[in-house]
Amino acid sequence: MASLTKLNFDYTQLDADRQKYATGEFRKGFGVFKGYTMPESFSLIQKQIDDFEVYDDDLWITTFPKCGTTWAQEMIWSICHDLDYSTNEQELDERMPFIEYCCILCPPNSKLVPLDPGFLSNSVQLSRDMKRPRIIKTHLPFDLLPRQIRTFERRPKIIHIYRNIKDTCVSFFHHQRLLEGFRGDFDLFWKLFITGKLSWTPMDDNVHSYWKHRSQPNFLFLRFEDMKRDLRSVVLQTCDFFKKSFPESEIDKLVKYLSFDSMQKNPWVSKLPLIEYCKKIGICINQEGKFIRKGAAGDYKNIMSEDIQKIFDDYIKEKLKGTELVL
Ligand code: A3P
Repeated sequence: MASLTKLNFDYTQLDADRQKYATGEFRKGFGVFKGYTMPESFSLIQKQIDDFEVYDDDLWITTFPKCGTTWAQEMIWSICHDLDYSTNEQELDERMPFIEYCCILCPPNSKLVPLDPGFLSNSVQLSRDMKRPRIIKTHLPFDLLPRQIRTFERRPKIIHIYRNIKDTCVSFFHHQRLLEGFRGDFDLFWKLFITGKLSWTPMDDNVHSYWKHRSQPNFLFLRFEDMKRDLRSVVLQTCDFFKKSFPESEIDKLVKYLSFDSMQKNPWVSKLPLIEYCKKIGICINQEGKFIRKGAAGDYKNIMSEDIQKIFDDYIKEKLKGTELVL
């Protein structure tokens, strides 16, 4: 990471600031697991996830946070349920459990467990117990997935969605102030992000851990920017992946259903119970914030100076050299 070394970050200070601005009852501190930062309480579930029984008929939606996970989940769910929208009328996190949720917001044995809206503290169990075929969400890199996936002993479908790293960083900043108790400013946030000190980072390694397997037939890669530019094509590509086809008019209806305005109004995907929980435990810093926030490509220009943009551009150019991955 030569370009970051040149920037001379004070790593000790960054660690101290992270402890000051990004921890609380819900998260005592951070650790590093196979090269990725996670809340330290990930250690309590790492083995359960490693040993997790996977089925070939599972579908795993794997993303770095803020890459359009929820948007893609709603598209995938609708396609898999043959566009019967009555099945969408349930909290998204209950339909498609987020396997490592507990260690992010409601660690096992913590005082917060009694306030759990129902899908946080038992997220591994919930994922295990879902009726098959299960749809499971994770932000973990490939290296931290259940062993049966890593060794290809089981071959569930895996859909990975990725997004421009600068937009992801900005979206993650807003997210962390809404739902993860981050009390610092953007200047601290981008430094923690690029030095790999936030949960699931380094982002480029995380995405690349999947990218390496993109030629496997059970993998599908989608880009947030393609969904923005031409959602219909991405919908059709996803239908193909599931070997499903629908009349044109039904595809039109789905594209409309997935539009930003419609998603923002949709109570089942807006994470209202989660926002309520975060307010209750005092970690919702931006009380006016929305989960489906702006949905733009290029929004980073509104908050990142040109100097910071260049740091990101240089960093990513160097880290992804020799891959065809564009972030
Ligand atoms: P912004 O914070 O940039 O607005 P995730 O689900 O992975 O947390 O991603 C959330 C991001 O996806 C947010 O980005 C959110 O607004 C955006 N998003 C969700 N639904 C969208 C839609 N229908 N169109 C465009 N962006 C959408």
